[in-house]
Amino acid sequence: MFKVFLPIFALFFLAIGCSHVPDKGINNTWFAPELTQSEFGDDESHNAGKNCMTCHVKGGDREAAKEGVWSIGGTVYQTGTTKVLPGSTLELFTGPNGTGNKVISLPVDDKGNVYTNKNISFGTGLFPVVTGPTGKKAAMMTSIGNGACNSCHNNGTPKITVEK
Ligand code: HEC
Ligand code: HEC
Repeated sequence: MFKVFLPIFALFFLAIGCSHVPDKGINNTWFAPELTQSEFGDDESHNAGKNCMTCHVKGGDREAAKEGVWSIGGTVYQTGTTKVLPGSTLELFTGPNGTGNKVISLPVDDKGNVYTNKNISFGTGLFPVVTGPTGKKAAMMTSIGNGACNSCHNNGTPKITVEK
């Protein structure tokens, strides 16, 4: 009985895995998790300003990790205000101030958050550049070895800000 059931179950989850239903962790061992990241206009995220990686990490909050283990997670604000700035873009470069190679470009969602579960190799360090909705730029001059932006920003270091 069990021997017959198991393959049927596997097929059932295979079918689910191939449809548009996002990976919910239950079939983690069978499928690579699908790409989950912020998009312009999305409002699914939450906890703006908090360090996403206290929860969205392996061994963090179980439910959070099921939704996504982030390699990058942060929040972007409008300079001089406490308002988030949707429509901004985060890029990571191998060199300071937008030099070297661009490793990733990510949209900031309607909650001001930017996140992805894409595997990013930080190597010897990557340099963030944030561009506001009208093209104004803000660059971090030192490099980062991980993408937990709000582990520093809004937490001892000022918020990430860019001009509207
Ligand atoms: C205190 C723990 C915690 C922190 C901090 C946290 N999250 Fe979450 N997150 C969760 C949990 C738990 C869930 C799953 C339940 C839910 O959707 O609320 C979740 C779900 C999500 C989802 C999926 C929601 C959906 O409906 O599909 C996104 C996207 C997300 N978090 C983004 C973020 C971002 C970005 C940050 C940082 C700015 C962050 N989270 C910070 C706990 C957290
Ligand atoms: C280890 C702590 C740390 C982490 C992690 C970190 N930052 Fe920073 N960030 C700083 C410090 C300190 C400064 C000011 C000095 C500088 O520019 O190097 C800064 C400055 C900045 C600036 C320029 C000032 C501003 O707010 O406009 C931007 C933009 C920025 N960071 C974006 C990011 C983004 C995006 C991430 C995540 C991908 C990130 N940072 C991760 C510490 C950090």
